[in-house]
Amino acid sequence: MNLEEMLKFADEIVFSKTGRHLDDLQEAVLKGTIQRETYKQIAKNFDCSESRVREISSELWQILSEEVGEEVRKTNFQSAMERWQHSNILNFAQNVSGSFNICGEARHQPDIQNSNSFDRETSNSQLINAPYQDLSEMPELGNFYNRASELNILETWILKQHCHLIALTGISGIGKTALAVKLVQRIKNEFDYVIWCSLNTPPKFLEFQERLLHFLSNPEKGDPSESEIIPKKLKLIKYLQKYRCLVVLDDLQNLFCSEDFAGYYKQEFQDYHFLFENVKDLSHQSCFLLVGWEHPREIHSNQNINTLFRVLKVTGLDVKAGRELLFNNGLEELDSWEFLIECYQGNPLWLKNLVTLVQEVGLSTRDCLQDDILLLPEEVKESLQQHYDRLAQIEKQIISVLARESQAVNREKLLDSSEILLSDLINGLQSLSRRCIIQKTKNNYTLSSVLKQFFVNLQESDLITPPSYSKLGIKDNS
Ligand SMILES: Nc1ncnc2c1ncn2[C@@H]1O[C@H](COP(=O)(O)OP(=O)(O)OP(=O)(O)O)[C@@H](O)[C@H]1O
Ligand SMILES: [Mg+2]
Repeated sequence: MNLEEMLKFADEIVFSKTGRHLDDLQEAVLKGTIQRETYKQIAKNFDCSESRVREISSELWQILSEEVGEEVRKTNFQSAMERWQHSNILNFAQNVSGSFNICGEARHQPDIQNSNSFDRETSNSQLINAPYQDLSEMPELGNFYNRASELNILETWILKQHCHLIALTGISGIGKTALAVKLVQRIKNEFDYVIWCSLNTPPKFLEFQERLLHFLSNPEKGDPSESEIIPKKLKLIKYLQKYRCLVVLDDLQNLFCSEDFAGYYKQEFQDYHFLFENVKDLSHQSCFLLVGWEHPREIHSNQNINTLFRVLKVTGLDVKAGRELLFNNGLEELDSWEFLIECYQGNPLWLKNLVTLVQEVGLSTRDCLQDDILLLPEEVKESLQQHYDRLAQIEKQIISVLARESQAVNREKLLDSSEILLSDLINGLQSLSRRCIIQKTKNNYTLSSVLKQFFVNLQESDLITPPSYSKLGIKDNS
């Protein structure tokens, strides 16, 4: 295994355990370890203290040890990773050979909803253990490219680490729903019950609870609380304890307030908070997958390996998948495709909207990138306007500063340029980051090209209200 491969494996492990990629110091520790440097040398090269390097290293060794199943230290990191890779290849080979349909019988139990009558007749005995599914609200999956690493991470979190609550967040069109559909298709047979609920127009909590209870109270499977009189909330948890259930809630942002920081429930949906708290904290064997622009405040991305909740921020398609998408949608191939995909953050919906615009107006691919101005199809603008309308006033002020800057901006500059109080600024940055609207590199913040262009246009058309400094720091309760 070469250095790059080793770093890639280590990064995958750390990401699957913590939801975060290797940071610069962690990467420096691993590179230094492979190059046989001492902790002192690594600290000197990175310009930090040796004790900090030792602290980060010890956390890293612990994370890696748990995944590879042997104690990983500085002295055996390289050989441990090679052994782990070897055993993974063997496992993979066994799994693959186990999944082949050698004698014509499906290895997995049938999907009641989608199986044909022949399947149903021939697999009566299997039906007893088949998962019950209500996927009537799950969208159809069209062409689907890549996402291998996201699917692996989610499968690890759900099937191996038995996480209770997982949030898939990201900006509109980035592919959260498609990813969740693909995941459900892959893992649904590992569950007793699988249900997909759209919160496009969210039901009141009691209605939602009723729907879940009705779905789960299947006499054939047995009711865990038939003879007991217990509150409905507890009854739901009892089902989650007795059976392995997968509950997917899509478009979660509709539960949350507009014009406030991310993840605050609207008054009428407060009770969902108690459900998610119970799902997160109580002991059971089920998983809730929450898909949307924001995630509830009770789960945060600062999780450690022992927590049973996780956040996966969905980013765009990589260049290879983006090329496939553009090609299959009929765009003329050019060298600048890679640049185009990066400018549009690999967002599959934005790329598709762009192709439609180019084709309908009869433009060429070159026209998309002229004079450093990006084309913003109306559909993209419409969805970004919806994101913008949800922001709190403080967030809008931060955005108006970032949109004017060509480079990433640090906190000090943001403070100077916006006159926002430090505590408000920090809370605003946290909220924007939770919404995946700003990007952070070290201590600098920036907007992606499309967002920058959109917000600049908004400013020019005076749609951004000028910051009202008198209100800064004071919550508007009107
Ligand atoms: N991996 C992929 N390969 C190809 N197309 C994709 C992929 N992921 C998403 N798409 C396409 O991009 C579009 C947007 O995807 P999707 O609806 O999943 O986005 P989303 O993040 O759920 O957006 P929203 O937040 O608005 O619900 C869809 O047309 C979908 O088919
Ligand atoms: Mg969606």
